[in-house]
Amino acid sequence: MGQSRENKDISDLTYKLETMGCQMNMADSERIEGQLQGLGIRPLDPDVDKNKQPDVVILNTCSIRDHAEQKVYSYIGPHAKRKRDGEDVTIIVAGCVAQQEGEALLRRVPEVDLVMGPQYANRIGDLLEDVSNGNQVVATEASHIMEDSTKPRRQSTVAAWVNVIYGCNERCTFCIVPTTRGVEQSRPAESIVREVTELVEQGFKEITLLGQNIDAYGRDMIPKRKFSDLIRIVGEIPGLDRLRFVTSHPRYMSLGVVDSVAETPAACECFHIPFQSGSNEILAAMGRGHTREKYLHIVDRIRSRIPDAAITADVIVGFPGETEEQFEDTLSLMREVVFDSVNTAAYSPRPNTPAAVWDDQVDDAVKQNRLQRINALNLEHAAQRRARMKGRTVEILVEERNVRVPTQVMGRTRHGYIVYCDGEIDELRGKLVNVEIDTCEQYYLAGKPVAQDGH
Ligand code: SAM
Ligand code: F3S
Repeated sequence: MGQSRENKDISDLTYKLETMGCQMNMADSERIEGQLQGLGIRPLDPDVDKNKQPDVVILNTCSIRDHAEQKVYSYIGPHAKRKRDGEDVTIIVAGCVAQQEGEALLRRVPEVDLVMGPQYANRIGDLLEDVSNGNQVVATEASHIMEDSTKPRRQSTVAAWVNVIYGCNERCTFCIVPTTRGVEQSRPAESIVREVTELVEQGFKEITLLGQNIDAYGRDMIPKRKFSDLIRIVGEIPGLDRLRFVTSHPRYMSLGVVDSVAETPAACECFHIPFQSGSNEILAAMGRGHTREKYLHIVDRIRSRIPDAAITADVIVGFPGETEEQFEDTLSLMREVVFDSVNTAAYSPRPNTPAAVWDDQVDDAVKQNRLQRINALNLEHAAQRRARMKGRTVEILVEERNVRVPTQVMGRTRHGYIVYCDGEIDELRGKLVNVEIDTCEQYYLAGKPVAQDGH
């Protein structure tokens, strides 16, 4: 920045940040925003900055699904043109596509100033300094993630994400994450506790611990730590109402985690455990290291220990070689479990992943047909699971206004279900409210607030 800012008021620089993809990326974006604001760069406000364009443009990218690269080019295209037309704009591509494409991105769009992989999310300040010295910077080297002193700018004032382990040591044959986010690096429990304590002091009520394979937490540390212990330690922080975590890997998820959730009052009774396929042959080809039976055993354990727990998952259909029969094994696993919701995806070949070059790719039309069938079953189960809430009084943590009905607020139950009820957001944001549920749909519940004791 600052190569030719003669005509600009450098005390009023603005940025615009766009985030694609998962919660990890959202958490990284919050860190990036915190650092930009620490440098005195403020978010572009469409109401105030009418007809203005941002001085710094950041796209935090995701490469998990198809067309990710094309989306990047079409997003930065107009800003690259601004630059070619003589405007002083700093263009940053962050996240997994940045990691995957590296210098190729600069060759394709020479107007880009900074390409930075996810491991650099907490170092954007240093990198921008390099950029302001006139360099084009590519930060994609595997790096040791420094313990974070940066303060994220949280999107919500109620619920926050906290990374506990970065990277992933697995090698699922469909997945690009290990090449973009590097090897596992656990954060010391003390720093996690410090961050959560500060968040609670600032008024946050709910924390979600993040890791690609969160059960691996602590295995890279000396002495080793266990994720099940971390749940208990964080769950005891005074003032924390709700604790969640994602993602559990069925190969590593210990039954001790289920016990910790059952015995830690703040820990919400919901589990996100991707199963990816219900066929053992496909699971082996995916390199998942777990079987259908192991998965069902975990579900049994959850249901016997915490009968009302919500279970959600991810699944891929149309993985190379998947036959109709193997796909039906996936449907039958879903019928056995009846998930609260499942993120469904048609297999998409990702660069530099083993399965992308196998010659038994499934036809696109077959993939789409399977996706439609699995989505229909998913919706049926989502509705079935939510139906049991009718007539119950549930506690919700109020997060936002209902954008469709402004006299209503939106909150989530401990299970993670979205609930709408009448209420004034300025009064209720961040509060726990009891709601008697009278409406159960596939994706949300609705009801009436119940007067609390003494009110
Ligand atoms: N760590 C998680 C786990 O253990 O399963 C998954 C991380 S990945 C970011 C999130 C989800 O994206 C996966 O669970 C998978 O269902 C989906 N996904 C990953 N690679 C994919 C691909 N090549 N095609 C379709 N879906 C994919
Ligand atoms: Fe990807 Fe498998 Fe790790 S899905 S994030 S390689 S556990």
